[in-house]
Amino acid sequence: MSQEHWKSKIGFILAAAGSAIGLGAIWKFPYIAGTGGGGAFFLIFLLFTVILGAPLLIGEFIIGRRTKLDAVSAYQKIAPGSFWTVIGRLGVVTCFILLSFYSVIGGWIIIYLFEAIRGSLDGLSQDGYGTLFNDIIANPGPTLFAQFLFMLIAILVVAKGVQKGIEVTSKIMMPALFLLFLVLVIRSVSLDGSMEGIKFLLVPDFSKLTSESVLFALGQAFFTLSVGVSVMVTYASYLPKTQHLPQAAFSIIIINIFVALLAGLAIFPGVFSFGLEPDAGPVLIFAVLPAVFSNMQFGTLFFIIFLLLFLFAALTSAFSMLEIFVAATTKKDNTKRTKRSWQLGMLIFLVGIPSCLSYGVLSDFLLFDKTIFDLFDYTVSNILMPLGALLISLFIPLRMSKSMLYEEMALGSNVGKVFFHIWYYVLKYVTPIAIIIVFLDVLGLWDF
Ligand code: PHE
Repeated sequence: MSQEHWKSKIGFILAAAGSAIGLGAIWKFPYIAGTGGGGAFFLIFLLFTVILGAPLLIGEFIIGRRTKLDAVSAYQKIAPGSFWTVIGRLGVVTCFILLSFYSVIGGWIIIYLFEAIRGSLDGLSQDGYGTLFNDIIANPGPTLFAQFLFMLIAILVVAKGVQKGIEVTSKIMMPALFLLFLVLVIRSVSLDGSMEGIKFLLVPDFSKLTSESVLFALGQAFFTLSVGVSVMVTYASYLPKTQHLPQAAFSIIIINIFVALLAGLAIFPGVFSFGLEPDAGPVLIFAVLPAVFSNMQFGTLFFIIFLLLFLFAALTSAFSMLEIFVAATTKKDNTKRTKRSWQLGMLIFLVGIPSCLSYGVLSDFLLFDKTIFDLFDYTVSNILMPLGALLISLFIPLRMSKSMLYEEMALGSNVGKVFFHIWYYVLKYVTPIAIIIVFLDVLGLWDF
């Protein structure tokens, strides 16, 4: 059985950052910040990311590298036969549901790319982009086909293996995405009336916050970091002992926050400048960005490059969701990798079909007052991921010894005892208590 491993430290950081940065920061963040209160939402999201997300990320890295096992086996090894092994399984199931609707948005990007290349996005009015987009996503044939294509790419890359497939792609795409975002932000903040948008994102107005938006910010913090589902356990299991885990976690968090900020700064000035509504929902980025690009020199070309990078960001996240599943079900036996990637990838596509149709023929089919797409998204982001995060934050202090945690954390470079203790106690007390309070608040059992 041949073991996979990352070729370089930077390769791992980029691949893990690639998993983190995806639709969460670029597509979802602007639209839920738009509905959830702008600046106040952003601030709470930042707090949750740093205080709750960062310790969990380091924790998942430790579990992964210590055991060198896939998400399911890792917990089994540390706590054999106990309740805790549910964490790995929960993570795998969550990623399965997640990828099934994630691929729908991946498909939308592919369609937009195609439309941009064909030139059909040139010269429309601002409203025109919104209408065009709604028409596009209501059409089942092309959207399903595009979703299929998205899954196909994910399957092909994951079948190739983590090093050749995931690492190499991430190394080129991530820096390029960054650069293009900068261009976009410069363009967006120089639009007339952009100040309103910048204020909307950066100046908090707490009167707009609701219990629900706090829960969304919590879910979003975990979602964008890919924590709570043991994806990072899986990725860290391919790491050598020389990698310093806190350093890797910090790089990923900084990049992630930066991308969310850039996405916000690219979108909201445009929203306000064109007189659009910030709470337009999932269509926001697709309706606003073409308009931002449209009056710019080489706008179409830039937009095409942007969509390509956006697609890659979504793909590098999709790779990690499929990888956790492939690693867990093959027990990292590489001879089974190709076959398993195909089987699982296709199954996920099939399960994702109703989500895709939620924007068209199934738009009136509601369960718990939500379309299938929204229901899946809500369940994953606001229930399953925080639940997984809660369980991991309980598992680590309860089932792993402090000395072993310290030893693993300090590999590769020194870690001060004070840092270690802050990390340990935040994870042990602050994380679970905060998650429970947010849950209770949403259920109406606690009012603050
Ligand atoms: N972090 C990814 C994003 O922001 C989503 C993701 C969640 C990926 C969980 C893997 C696991 O798009």
